Order: sequence, then C-alpha cells, then structure tokens
Amino acid sequence: MTAPTPDAFAPARLGPIDLRNRIIKAATFEGMTGDQTVSDRLVQFHRTMARGGVGMTTLAFCAVSPEGAATPNELVLRDEAVPGLRRLADAAHAEGAAVSAQIGHAGAVAASAGIRGVAPSPVFSPLAMKRMKQATAEDIRRITSDFASGAKRLRDAGFDAVEIHLGHGYLASEFLSPKLNRRRDEWGGSLANRARFSREVAKVVREAAGSGMAVLAKLNMDDGVRGGFGLEESIEVARMLESDGTLDAIELTCGSSLQNPMYLFRGDAPIQEMAASMPKAVALGMKLFGRFFLKTYPYEDGYLRKQALQVRAALDLPLVLLGGINRRENIEEAMTDGFEFVAMGRGLLRNPGFVNEMAKGSTADSLCDHCNKCMATIYQGTHCVLVDEDLRA
Ligand SMILES: Cc1cc2nc3c(=O)[nH]c(=O)nc-3n(C[C@H](O)[C@H](O)[C@H](O)COP(=O)(O)O)c2cc1C
Ligand code: SF4
Repeated sequence: MTAPTPDAFAPARLGPIDLRNRIIKAATFEGMTGDQTVSDRLVQFHRTMARGGVGMTTLAFCAVSPEGAATPNELVLRDEAVPGLRRLADAAHAEGAAVSAQIGHAGAVAASAGIRGVAPSPVFSPLAMKRMKQATAEDIRRITSDFASGAKRLRDAGFDAVEIHLGHGYLASEFLSPKLNRRRDEWGGSLANRARFSREVAKVVREAAGSGMAVLAKLNMDDGVRGGFGLEESIEVARMLESDGTLDAIELTCGSSLQNPMYLFRGDAPIQEMAASMPKAVALGMKLFGRFFLKTYPYEDGYLRKQALQVRAALDLPLVLLGGINRRENIEEAMTDGFEFVAMGRGLLRNPGFVNEMAKGSTADSLCDHCNKCMATIYQGTHCVLVDEDLRA
C-alpha cells in the first residue's frame, strides 16, 4: 500500500527533531557577520524568516575555520561565535521555527578572500586568479576535525540541525569532482576515494551533533561542468551516504560557485550589480569576463525536479527538493513526487511571510522575478532589491 501524500503545512519529523511544517528556508549567505560573529541584524533576519512560517530556517554560510571562509565577512565557527549563535537560535525558537546552520569549507572558493586556498589538487581558481595549494593528509585531517568542532559549537548554541555543504564547488564538492580532484592517493581517483572526504565529514559531524540534532547534507546532483561530477555519480554518492547512516536528509542542488555559478540559480546574471559590489580590480574582471563566467540558463519553477526524481527513485533517505520552489503548487507536487521537504531561497528573500500566506491557502507566486540581484547584496547584508528597507528581514 502506498503512503498517503503528506500535507506540507502539517508537522513533520526530520531525524530526531519535529518541524511545524515541511518547508525549510534554504541557505542564502546573509553577510551580516562583519566581524565573523552573529550581529543583531542577522538575528533579526532569522526571526523574520521564522515569523513568516517556515518549519526551519538555515543560517549560512558558517565556515568551519578561518581559511574555509569564502569572503572576509563570513561567520567562522569559533568559541566567540557561540553566544551570538545562541541568541539567533533562541529568536527562531521564540517564533516557533527550528534552526539549522550550513557548515562548510569553501576550498578554492575561499581563495577569493585573499587566503591561500586549499583544494584536492593544485587547480587554478578563477576567483583568486591563482593556483591552489594541494591539501596534504594533515590538512584533510585538520579540516575534518574542524567540521566536528563546528557541529559541536552549534549543538552547544542550541541549534536543532546542521547542514553539511557538499555542493557548489566548495571543498567537499571539489573532492567529488573528477575534474578538480586529480589525486592518486586514497582521496582521489575512484568514486569511492573521491567520496571519502564527504563521508568522513558526515561521520564526524554526526558524532559531534549527537542524537538530538538533525544532520543534513547539501549535495550536487550535477556541477554543470563538462567532465565534472554528474547525476550518475551523485546517485552513487547519495547511496553511500545513505548506507553510512550518518544523515537524516539530503538536500539536492547543482552548480559551482567556482566554475558555473548561474547553473545553480538559473535566470538573469546580475553582472553590473556584482561588479559594483566588488573591489575595483575584481570588478573590472567581472565587467570584462562576467558574461563568460556567469553563463546564464533559463529559469523555470521547480527546475531541479527532473534530476531530483532520479535520485528519489534510487534512495529511501528523506530528500529536500530545492530550486525554483515558488508557489504552493510546486510544494504540493514535491510531496506527491515523494520528497519529504522543500527548501526555498529567493522566494523567501522576496517575501518572508510567504509560508504563512500559502498555509492560509494562497496560490499566488512569491513575486520573485529571478533577476538574481540579491546575489550582489551579500557584502552589505543579503536582501531582495525589490523589498523596501523597512520591510526587510
Ligand atoms: C543571495 C543568495 C545567497 C546564497 N548563499 C548560499 C549559501 O551560502 N550556501 C548555499 O548552499 N546556497 C546558497 N544560495 C543558493 C540557495 O540556497 C539555493 O540553492 C538557490 O537559491 C536555489 O533555490 P531558490 O530557487 O529557492 O532560490 C544562495 C542563494 C542566494 C540567492
Ligand atoms: S533580488 Fe529579489 S526578485 Fe531578484 S532574485 Fe533576488 S529575491 Fe528574487
């Protein structure tokens, strides 16, 4: 007998935690962490998201170490961040939402912050305009242990969940990629070797998170790069992670901040806005080469559904559908398709109260037009450019 389609707006279990509904605010790096700790604005951002009705809000991006931060204004999971993290968790809880944090190491993307980035192999980073340092066995051991310490700090701060970033060309995703990972040791070559870093990280995070916290991973289905990590291998890696028993859910994504950023967003490339938000030297490069680096792809609602259905067919583990969830119909379709949760990014930046509106029956769309100009706001505090300042999160 097939299970009845769940009501996305009714309470649901995610591993060891209960959510009031199945809608998760996706990671949208907030950039309100100038001194790499939580600011009052960041607390307010997540309070607003929680008040808008999501089951769980996700703080992003949290670097597990200073060298793993993609920009100088990113939160780093050190002891001094814990009191602010606790305030943020309390604020979300007071509004009835659970709270998760996305943790990761930006790998070659981190090099854009003026740091000598580490990567699985000494690849050239177009963001840093230099070659990366190949991670040594000692680097890999240290970074893995940083993931565990980060998860432990989130647990101490009262977070309900942690999301491990295995996608978007960040370090774990670079290890998975046959194009970026050219190693011949136990961390490279076969898919089992390329997946080792992700699996080790998931294992230590699970241990550090303990039995009371949910552990999710955000995994690429496809880098959108010729010779990169693709759907067939992604399904295999998802199966490995499932058999390890380290995760409560996988959120499915695609694209690469390092190699093909717009593939993950679809819609327009905000080249002028990105250039205006960058230091002069980098801005010139963006103006000259932006159209190549930010190659565009047409947007459509639920644009990752087709690929995600193939993962769904291969796995029993709960899955989170992401990518262009923009109206109630997309959410209901995801439930019918067998996805346990959905995650929304831009739709909630555009309209933080959208989940409450849909729960009351609204079938309107979020009003996000996929201009992607919010991408350029991450340095001043992430926001939708169509929302007036006084109405923003
Ligand atoms: C401004 C902005 C910042 C983002 N930052 C992150 C991030 O820190 N980590 C991440 O995994 N994804 C990030 N994303 C991608 C979203 O999580 C999501 O994968 C993407 O926007 C597609 O979902 P959507 O169509 O619901 O917006 C960001 C998206 C936006 C618009
Ligand atoms: S700036 Fe606003 S309308 Fe444009 S993509 Fe971002 S959330 Fe949507």
